[in-house]
Parts: sequence; C-alpha cells; structure tokens
Amino acid sequence: MADIEPTGETLGAMVRGIDLSRPLSDPDFAAIVSALGRHGVLRFPDQSLDAPALRDFSSRFGTLQASVTGKLGVPGMPEVGILSNIMENGEPIGLVDAGQDWHTDMSYNTLVGFTNVLYAVKVPRRDGKPLGATQFANMHAAYDDLASDTKERLKNATATHDFNKFWEAMRQRPGSIRPALTAEQRAKRQPSTHPVFLTHPITGRRVLYCNPGYAIRINELDAAESDRVLAMLFEHQLQDKYIYTHTWTERDVLMWDHIGTLHYAIPDYGPDEPRMMLRCQVMADRVFEPGFAHAGLAAPGSHP
Ligand code: SIN
Repeated sequence: MADIEPTGETLGAMVRGIDLSRPLSDPDFAAIVSALGRHGVLRFPDQSLDAPALRDFSSRFGTLQASVTGKLGVPGMPEVGILSNIMENGEPIGLVDAGQDWHTDMSYNTLVGFTNVLYAVKVPRRDGKPLGATQFANMHAAYDDLASDTKERLKNATATHDFNKFWEAMRQRPGSIRPALTAEQRAKRQPSTHPVFLTHPITGRRVLYCNPGYAIRINELDAAESDRVLAMLFEHQLQDKYIYTHTWTERDVLMWDHIGTLHYAIPDYGPDEPRMMLRCQVMADRVFEPGFAHAGLAAPGSHP
C-alpha cells in the first residue's frame, strides 16, 4: 500500500511501499493519481526498472508519446526515450540537452501532456555532490496569486504553443548538436492552441497553463501586447516561492504532473560527468476521461 509523505515544500512528495516493476493495484493507482494532483511531483526511491517495466507502469496513466526523430530511444521501443550526455563511438546514446529550460512537455500538442515518468540510471556527481537536478514550478499557486484584473482579462484567452520554439532555443545554444527539424518532423508537431487557464482534471482547480518553452502568442491580443503579457506571466510563474528542486539519486522514479507544473533540467554538469535517464511521456487522454480522477480531490474538469 502506498505511503505518501509530502516534502512540505510548494511541490513534491515521497512515495514508498510500491514496487513499480510489478503490476499496480487499483488502490495504489488511485493513490498515485490523487497525490500527483495534490503534490505535482512524486518521487519513488529505490526502484529497479528496465525499459519495458517503465513503459508498462507509465502506460497505466495514458497513451505514451513516441520520439519525434524516431531515434534516441531504447531500440525497438520508441515510447521509452533516453536522456543522456553519454557518447558511444562518437554518437550520443540519447537526447543530450532535453528539458534544459523552463517548459511543459507536450503543451504543443492538441492533446496536451499529463505526466512524465523518469527513471534515474546515472546521476552526475562532483566531489560527491549530485548534479543535474530538475526544478519544478507550481502552476496552481501561480494562478491563485495572479492579480484579479489579470484573471478577469485572460479568463477566456488562449495561447498558441509551438514545439519548434523550444527545439530552436536549444539548437541555438553554443555547442548544440541538435539538427533543425525537417519539414516532415515539423508537420508531426504542428502548433496548437489552449486556454491560458485550465481547470485541472484531478484537483478541479484553475492552473496557469502557459509556459516560456512553447507559448508564442496570446491569440486574442495584438502582437506587442501579447509579448508584454507573456513576459509578465513568465516572470510571475518563475518566482522562487513556486519552485521545488528535485536532487536525483540513482534508481529514483520521478513522476510529475504537466498540467499543474513547469520544469527545467539544470545543465550544471560536464561531458565527462555522465547522466542518464529513461523517460516516458504520457499524454492527457485518459486523465480527462470521466471517472479517471475519481480518486482525486474534485470532479474532473473539461478537456482543453
Ligand atoms: C524533461 O523531461 O524535460 C527532462 C527532465 C530531466 O532530464 O531532468
């Protein structure tokens, strides 16, 4: 039976008492869904998972997104990505710079992301200190704290999210080995539009759903005003009071809610300090189904 201990910080809880390599019981599944809505980021320490086990656990929560390039995943398993700076025969074994700026995975899809599930295979260390932490920002709290005139003004606003914004931002960094997306890859990741404020399907509360990684435009505003409002929202949502840092240990499984958080993988380690994560990206198809969030805290919201 799941034992869930909140961190006491703005986000995060430790979950013990579940072996994720074994089929998940219905009560444990319900406890995880509820805790994910409530705490945003869940750490399951001391797990022992191979790629199929990570895929099987993750796919309980929704359909898995496969990599856009068709490469950099576990061979024969495109829905399990490898995030790593390790090179073999001069080639990276995974996506080297994944997530190295603030963003929300899959906000660029019509069907948004629900959760990522990462398994820590190698954690870089310097002088015994772990590096390559991942930070999260709390979008329930960021919405709650917005000025009431901003909430009123943007209550029916929508934003366009573009996969290529983040891809290009990473590609333009010195030393990046990301190629430009091909026309075919861009066609697979067309920009999409979502409300700036969503009702969270588990908590039933409003969240600020607009992230600097992918949001390019508030559609109802002219370009200059859209830029100004986006800059204000991005600054607001990344205040220290909303941020939680997860420091990795090998064999951690970390699962986070994309609808209620942003995240950032801190690139503070070098090429000779190996980091390797296995990752599944779970889409928000099941979480918006009636009944999925019955273990949650409120009635399900509507699909964006
Ligand atoms: C990501 O999914 O954005 C990567 C997070 C990480 O590697 O810590």
